[in-house]
Amino acid sequence: MAPRTILFTGKGGVGKTSVAAATAQRCARDGLRTLVLSTDPAHSMSEALEAELGAEPAQVSDRLWGQEVQAQEEMERNWSAMQEWLGEMLVDQGVDRISAEELTVPPGADELFSLLALKRHHEAGEFDVLVVDCAPTGETLRLLSFPDVARWWLDKVFPFERQIMAAARPIVRSVLDVPMPGAAVIEDVRGLVGNLIAMNDILRDRERATIRLVMNPDKMVIGEAMRTFTYLNLYGYLTDAVVVNRVFPDAVEGTYFGAWRERQREHLERVHSAFAPVPVLLAPYFEAEVAGPVMLDRLADELYSEEQAPAAVLHESLSTELTVNERRAQVRLQMPFADRGDVSLKKIGPELVVRVDGQKRTIMLPPALAAWRPTEARLADGTLVVTLDEAERSSTADIG
Ligand SMILES: Nc1ncnc2c1ncn2[C@@H]1O[C@H](COP(=O)(O)OP(=O)(O)O)[C@@H](O)[C@H]1O
Ligand SMILES: [Mg+2]
Repeated sequence: MAPRTILFTGKGGVGKTSVAAATAQRCARDGLRTLVLSTDPAHSMSEALEAELGAEPAQVSDRLWGQEVQAQEEMERNWSAMQEWLGEMLVDQGVDRISAEELTVPPGADELFSLLALKRHHEAGEFDVLVVDCAPTGETLRLLSFPDVARWWLDKVFPFERQIMAAARPIVRSVLDVPMPGAAVIEDVRGLVGNLIAMNDILRDRERATIRLVMNPDKMVIGEAMRTFTYLNLYGYLTDAVVVNRVFPDAVEGTYFGAWRERQREHLERVHSAFAPVPVLLAPYFEAEVAGPVMLDRLADELYSEEQAPAAVLHESLSTELTVNERRAQVRLQMPFADRGDVSLKKIGPELVVRVDGQKRTIMLPPALAAWRPTEARLADGTLVVTLDEAERSSTADIG
């Protein structure tokens, strides 16, 4: 059976590695063979687990393994022919060798190749649970959201690749003075496209793969998590929990951090309005760093309740769905407890603020829709549908 896959993502330093390690350790204690793998190049999984990890899974304790994926190795496995060809071409064009080497890897590609380790584990089927400590933003997940484009290449372009290449060779030679890519280069591209499709299938299987967004009760961090959440919903990836880590405990009241705790309270309200009905898991700011099995257990105890198995899918449907046509977009929001349909809408820059029967929701719209205007809101069967229209661009100047 395909393993349960849980991905943790969020801004740098918020506690992704700690939360991923704590979750994995708890899954293992629950009797599941668990691998926690870090694809963040800023590896710190070995410190969190207090174990020596490498590029291949290493056993940490009963049923728990850890792995720090090496982007370089993954790149060599998947992209070496392409790198060689691009590198030579760039050097031919006068780029120095060191810069050429760096330019052969598109931005974000190292993280993408690291994620392919996930696909290998899926196929091998040695683990019940795969916990992934991802690189800071959801960027990579966005890269994975082009399966339709990838399929098009696979169906339309690759079957004719030989003819195209044969026809192009003399032209390219005479006009551009660059060598044509060989079969191995084409093979790298074909492999990558195939892998993108496979990864997408793994991550969009909402019964087994979910994403958990990690953040701190801090304004900017929450804003970034909201943007990621929008993209995840847009591309059909299921977020089944959000984690707010480093919440000041009541004990700080009356101390230097008392005022901070007040601010955090306000920020927590924003978290609820932005992510509901996705469950919000809280963890306090501990008096020590989260490293080693004892601290990981404490963190897991705070995050997950007795009856809440961390490997369970904690929320089962997309809370926001967005469809966009030419000039009209529809946002569908789950509002399970609203009935009267007393709806008020406000748009503040890219944020759409919706109030229904006392429930407040804040949705960060994708930049492309930031200037669109809400024109209608309807509530039916616990779902609120908000229609947005592209703002009329005035064709004639309105001068007095
Ligand atoms: N709830 C917490 N209380 C105290 N320290 C924490 C907490 N969560 C994480 N830390 C510490 O904060 C630092 C950054 O956490 P880490 O999990 O590495 O973040 P990320 O992976 O998002 O960069 C680490 O030293 C970690 O031990
Ligand atoms: Mg980390």
